[in-house]
Amino acid sequence: MRERLVEYLACPDCGGELRLACSRRDGWEIREGRLDCQNREHSFPVVRGIPRLISSAVADLSSEVAAGFGWEWNEFSEIRGEYRQQFLDWVKPLEPGDFAGKRVLEGGCGKGRHSALVAQFGAKEVFSLDLGSAVEAAYRNTGHLENVHVIQADLCRPPLKTCADLAFSVGVLHHLPDPAVGFHALVDRLVPGGRIAVWVYGREGNEWIVDWVDPVRTRVTARMPRRVLYELARPIGYLLAATAKGLYKPLADTVPSLHRQLFYRDYLTYIARLPAREIHSIVFDQLVTPVAYYLSRDEVAAWFSEARLGEFAIEQHNGNSWRAQARVLR
Ligand SMILES: C[S@@+](CC[C@H](N)C(=O)[O-])C[C@H]1O[C@@H](n2cnc3c(N)ncnc32)[C@H](O)[C@@H]1O
Ligand SMILES: [Zn+2]
Repeated sequence: MRERLVEYLACPDCGGELRLACSRRDGWEIREGRLDCQNREHSFPVVRGIPRLISSAVADLSSEVAAGFGWEWNEFSEIRGEYRQQFLDWVKPLEPGDFAGKRVLEGGCGKGRHSALVAQFGAKEVFSLDLGSAVEAAYRNTGHLENVHVIQADLCRPPLKTCADLAFSVGVLHHLPDPAVGFHALVDRLVPGGRIAVWVYGREGNEWIVDWVDPVRTRVTARMPRRVLYELARPIGYLLAATAKGLYKPLADTVPSLHRQLFYRDYLTYIARLPAREIHSIVFDQLVTPVAYYLSRDEVAAWFSEARLGEFAIEQHNGNSWRAQARVLR
């Protein structure tokens, strides 16, 4: 971590100021140390360059969710060129220029693929929060970027002052025990005029997953040894990749009338652009977690209206998910 991060941090347990005691440093990078709260009961370690600001109040279920994803992102830790467009499609209509010069908070950064992009888009600071061991992969992928700060923390209690110009969360809120709590926690860290952008699974378009895949996920795959699930997800992923690349994409390009009849067509055509190993990781990602909510448009819209935000916009993406944005009124 960088020393200047301390000015943005707040204790996740009481909101108090934190003070840094460094015990090992490499140049400007603090590798080991401690962050002590002004309320002396609260103290948090800095381990392998990452501040571990985990509140004592974190839910067991959240830790369980983050453990599965931590395994995933350390296994599928590579950064791909395709992530840029995929990210811009998830946060549309935000564009690279919207991140330039901004203090950006990412809720649930996984392996840091989006924090790395946002840093390249010229963000002033990027606060990349994740609760699980995914932070180790994120740190490996972004540690060289001067403006990225990887922080291990629960996004429902972000250990930050109100300092963000832009907060985003891609594919995370639906994995929280209470997605609305995470949403409001991110909004709370935005300065007046700040923007929030989220992407979540939709209920609309995913009825078959709710009816047929969810029962198997919660009872079987989320409880499996992860290496076994990795092997199980591989043939499913490669079969899906072959179908998307060999059938959906060619039909979309040549016989649109037939393509319109295909099952789950928008999504499966979209992923045809990704390598098969990436589709393997998507299948693993779907099956590893004990918590996944499929949210209706109305549920997502209700978070925004409760938060009294302006410039609200929500749009369906790939026929199976919602991307939504708004701005904190001045
Ligand atoms: C499906 S992954 C998405 C990661 C990243 N946004 C991406 O698209 O690459 C969900 C991530 O949210 C993290 N997560 C889950 N619950 C969390 C919580 N309460 N606080 C912070 N991160 C959390 C998980 O550890 C995981 O890395
Ligand atoms: Zn404290």
